[in-house]
Amino acid sequence: MQAQPTSHRILVIGGGGREHALAWKIADSPRTVAVFVAPGNAGTARDPRMVNVPIAADDTRALVEFALANTITLAVVGPEGPLVGGVVDAFEAAGLACFGPNAAAAELEASKAFSKRFLARHSIPTADYAVFTEVNAARLYIQTLPLPIVLKADGLAAGKGVIIAPDQDTANDAAERLLANGGRVVIERYLEGEEASYMVMVDGDNIVPLASSQDHKPAYDGDNGPNTGGMGAYSPAPVVTGAVAERAMREIIRPTVHGMAEEGRSFRGFLYAGLMIDSQGKPCVLEFNVRLGDPEAEPILMRLESDLVDLLEAGVEQRLDSMTPAWRDQAALSVVMASAGYPGAVEKGHAISGIDNITNNATLFHAGTSLDEDGVTVRTAGGRVLCVTALGHDIATARERAYAATKIINWPGAWCRRDIGYRALSRM
Ligand code: AMP
Ligand code: GLY
Repeated sequence: MQAQPTSHRILVIGGGGREHALAWKIADSPRTVAVFVAPGNAGTARDPRMVNVPIAADDTRALVEFALANTITLAVVGPEGPLVGGVVDAFEAAGLACFGPNAAAAELEASKAFSKRFLARHSIPTADYAVFTEVNAARLYIQTLPLPIVLKADGLAAGKGVIIAPDQDTANDAAERLLANGGRVVIERYLEGEEASYMVMVDGDNIVPLASSQDHKPAYDGDNGPNTGGMGAYSPAPVVTGAVAERAMREIIRPTVHGMAEEGRSFRGFLYAGLMIDSQGKPCVLEFNVRLGDPEAEPILMRLESDLVDLLEAGVEQRLDSMTPAWRDQAALSVVMASAGYPGAVEKGHAISGIDNITNNATLFHAGTSLDEDGVTVRTAGGRVLCVTALGHDIATARERAYAATKIINWPGAWCRRDIGYRALSRM
């Protein structure tokens, strides 16, 4: 029996491009009567369908109080920090529905050591690895690995905590540096192949795959330079063929969801497997995230045809087995416009021009932006500033539209990668 459609007052927690995209898609639902974003950004402030709430994403107590006082019926969490900090546990304790993993399940992203051990326990494919707290033992293991060697700091590092050492000396130095203040380092074998982001919605047991996507993590063209949170993304990812997606579900996603449930860490929320796909189409786990990727969420949500509120509600009510989301045939591509200096220290506070001249061919999701009190002037307020997203009948068309829109926008020091989507285009 179909439940009577009810309306929702929704709280989106976070303030980046992913949260703007979530709020944008949620606002589109006929079932949504109010969308609050905490803390949001200039993009969510300027959209008349949304209301920004000046509460930091990690201020759990204030978020719960706000949700109770404003009869929030459904909350959804964007970033990992609040999830790892237990925001879902706190909402549930207050009797509030919140889509996301609790703190115990968020360990999958919070600790690389936990996630690598979990993968080993459940025979889920991932690179050979070992975890160290002590430099000499790390050095011995480094000697046994082929080059290059991958080292990861344990704990949340926003995609910036990975070192790919081309030789043993570099690896030894990195291990020493990562262990200098105590802590743990994960050292692992380098995997060859092409990366893709495979995301699903999980209700503890049932799994709904989202459209495939790929992002570009390195800062500069040709995938060179330091790692970032992501400089652009697109969906679908041609490397994720139907056969690869099926293997990822069978060999990685299902065993992960069932393994977490067996271990008393039942996973509910968006689950993101960062995959390395080898030349035979075999997927291997690089990392888990316990949330949507950013910027992957932006092109994925632009392609989602179904009502996101229906999906989120089914997620918290453990009814995802009844959901099959529909996707637009079109491709979507996002280009991140960043501040001078990103991913290092950045200049903030520059006024952004051109925002109101963007045509319907592209959608601007705001990330690090703030709105002046005049309600008009939008300023840069972070490293990744805007995520310029477009649909097209293929990746090439979506890319042309997104890049055309980036040319209309400007501020001192604004830059973006010029080659987002090149891997997808080379497969066509
Ligand atoms: P992670 O935070 O673990 O996803 O690592 C960040 C990035 O480092 C990944 O997106 C990959 O590009 C790269 N990376 C991490 N682990 C490996 C590995 N074992 N082999 C090859 N590249 C890796
Ligand atoms: N774009 C990669 C991430 O969100 O972790």
